Amino acid sequence: APPAIIAPSILSANFANLGHDCSKKMEEGADWLHVDIMDGHFVPNMTIGCPVVSQIRGCVDRPSEPCGRGTFDCHMMIMEVRLPLPPHKWVGEFKKAGCDLYCFHYEAAVSSVAATDPTDKETTARTSPKQLIRYIHEEGMQAGIAIKPDTPVDVLWDIIESEDPAERPDMVLVMTVHPGFGGQKFMASELPKVAALRKRYPDLNIEVDGGLGLGTIEQAADAGANVIVAGSAIFGAQDPGDVIAKLREAVQK
Ligand code: DX5
Ligand code: ZN
Repeated sequence: APPAIIAPSILSANFANLGHDCSKKMEEGADWLHVDIMDGHFVPNMTIGCPVVSQIRGCVDRPSEPCGRGTFDCHMMIMEVRLPLPPHKWVGEFKKAGCDLYCFHYEAAVSSVAATDPTDKETTARTSPKQLIRYIHEEGMQAGIAIKPDTPVDVLWDIIESEDPAERPDMVLVMTVHPGFGGQKFMASELPKVAALRKRYPDLNIEVDGGLGLGTIEQAADAGANVIVAGSAIFGAQDPGDVIAKLREAVQK
């Protein structure tokens, strides 16, 4: 399996001290920073947009390689409500703001496709998950695709196995809570999705997000997850560096 990557979710940071909190997590041993972008439509909560992402980017060293240390892993919980604007609207903007890995939700992409006029060939092409991945790659970012608890994992096979490598995701995110808020209870019911992905794709980056901490990491690691997002478990700890080290150990053993 690929190496362990620990990605603190900055949703649990103190937003009045965001830059400081981000650089602190890197000093404490984080590999990536997980940046939750919420629009109040795809999920019932709102967080931050490009101006804030680009300001905190300046507080953390850029990764020297794709998926290297300092990667800004932007988890895009957004959908385009002013259709027919397609979901790639934000791709270029987030690239400019300093996003390295743009992880969109399968459900958001597909709902835009469904709401698009099927005779509008250009928009239809742009809104399919594969085309969105291609577009993210063209912008020079890594591409991730996320699924919510209610979405079956087998919708992903055809996308991950795209004939054209430009249309294949670099990472899959399996949500282990209903997205929207930090501090929710881990849903072990989602782990068979992780196991099925790991079985088919030994080298794929598989991320889990929601309710991860010292009490749940073993199950997630056993299922085959290697990219671990944790918000409250890291930011709420007495010694965040120790939690980061223990999460990494659990994945590596
Ligand atoms: C939830 C977000 C998560 C969240 C995780 O919608 O995607 O990244 O911050 O928080 P914890 O680790 O506290 O469950
Ligand atoms: Zn997230």
